[in-house]
Amino acid sequence: MNYVASVLFLLSAVGFIFGLRMLRAPATARKGNMVSAGGMLAAIVGTLLVTIDQGHFNTLAALTVLGGIAVGTAIGIPAAKLVKMTAMPEMVALFNGFGGIASLLIGWGQTQEAVAHASNLAEVEDKLIALTGGQPNVVTLATFLAVLIGGITFTGSVVAWGKLSEHLTSKPVLYPGQNVVNGLAVLGSIALGIWFTMQPDQIWLLYIIIPLSFVLGVAVVIPIGGGDMPVVISLLNSYSGLAACAAGFAVNSPLLIIIGALVGASGLILTRIMCVAMNRSLGNVLFSGFGAVSTTGGITATGEKKEARILSPQDAYFVLEAAQSVIFVPGYGMAVAQAQHAVKQLADLLVKNGCDVKHVIHPVAGRMPGHMNVLLAEANVEYDQLAVPEDINPSMESVDVAIVIGANDVVNPAALTDKASPIYGMPIIEVHRARAVFTLKRSLASGYAGIDNPLFYLSNNSMVLGDAKKTIEALIAEFKAED
Ligand code: TAP
Repeated sequence: MNYVASVLFLLSAVGFIFGLRMLRAPATARKGNMVSAGGMLAAIVGTLLVTIDQGHFNTLAALTVLGGIAVGTAIGIPAAKLVKMTAMPEMVALFNGFGGIASLLIGWGQTQEAVAHASNLAEVEDKLIALTGGQPNVVTLATFLAVLIGGITFTGSVVAWGKLSEHLTSKPVLYPGQNVVNGLAVLGSIALGIWFTMQPDQIWLLYIIIPLSFVLGVAVVIPIGGGDMPVVISLLNSYSGLAACAAGFAVNSPLLIIIGALVGASGLILTRIMCVAMNRSLGNVLFSGFGAVSTTGGITATGEKKEARILSPQDAYFVLEAAQSVIFVPGYGMAVAQAQHAVKQLADLLVKNGCDVKHVIHPVAGRMPGHMNVLLAEANVEYDQLAVPEDINPSMESVDVAIVIGANDVVNPAALTDKASPIYGMPIIEVHRARAVFTLKRSLASGYAGIDNPLFYLSNNSMVLGDAKKTIEALIAEFKAED
């Protein structure tokens, strides 16, 4: 039985590693998800076999595990199917939070079991070691880390969920001396953790560390603006992996250590990719209160009103009909309008018309990593039509028309020219250098960063105002009417 469990654990680890690798490309991402889910199933079955093998199995434990799977499946499947694409980041935030609380409960539960088996508190560490087969101090240190990081991840993720879903204010909540208070709380919890590691019989320390971790999770996320929540969620994803990894050391489970490390590392890599794409450091994201100020659209520093040219879809059609090369630049508004299928239809019509078409995706377009890739894949856009800014920016002058669909910050030229702009230095898709730009959005309002976009007022740009899906459908109707 132990042999079968070991093989299942190996298959599980391989499943997670390959599943994660397959998530790198849109073409293999769906399969990657299934492979990882298969790895999870192998891990659960293997764990049940180990409990049977070690004589820990009883009907109540089995029913608890099976009941947990049944309740989780009954909630998880409809939640994943019903969630709107635009609400996906909130859902990921909650998933991270559940991962964190699971690790906290593993650490806490195991300590409770050791206390129950010990005849006095001095025996707690011996019992912990007997239960897990781990090393002295390593088990208690890992338990402390699983509890601390798990608790921070849980409440931090709930706050991130609240900010994104607008149940809480998305503005940074700031007060004087905040970083000092947070820093002291972190140092305090580390000191308590060292104490608990050295003296696990002081079990009461855990009852301070647990609420402190919950408070810390809230305290470190509230000063961060809603615009930066995707980065925070990715970081919390990494934390949930680290908490699981620590829980793996606490219960001496190599599989949990491997999976936790994979999640921890991939979350950190993703966080870094996002920071680089925005040209901001992680410290700036976490501590600068970015998003506390916003600007009003279309007003210059001297109070003068700027004019943007407005074009109807019918007029835009005449330009498109003659275009030889067109790029689509999707942004968050495409997700809101659910315009991806219409975009694919328009792209097909342009290709049929002899036009070269590319969809250029900025790494932080939308509200989560890969947001635009997922939407365009859902609409079956050919992968060879997908491009990244570096592919197109150098030859932007040869693009006849850039169609910006509900994107704003990721095409804002202020990022290149205005040193005072909060997004200065962020690499953008430089559509302002194309021969003509059609910006499809509902108004001249700002994007997530809350700042004005000078692109709207350039002579080569025309605003095609309205819901992006309706505008694109109107363009499609014009093409079809000419057929
Ligand atoms: P945004 O700058 O947020 O702009 C989206 C625009 O879509 C809005 O200006 C809005 O203008 C328009 N819009 C909304 N609904 C629409 C609809 N139904 N039809 C047409 N237009 C609609 O989007 P972006 O360019 O994709 O930039 C993403 C932002 O999120 C950046 O600031 C980025 O730094 C931040 N961010 C993203 C991530 C990830 S991982 N994606 C991570 C961290 C931060 P109207 O209201 O006028 O229509």
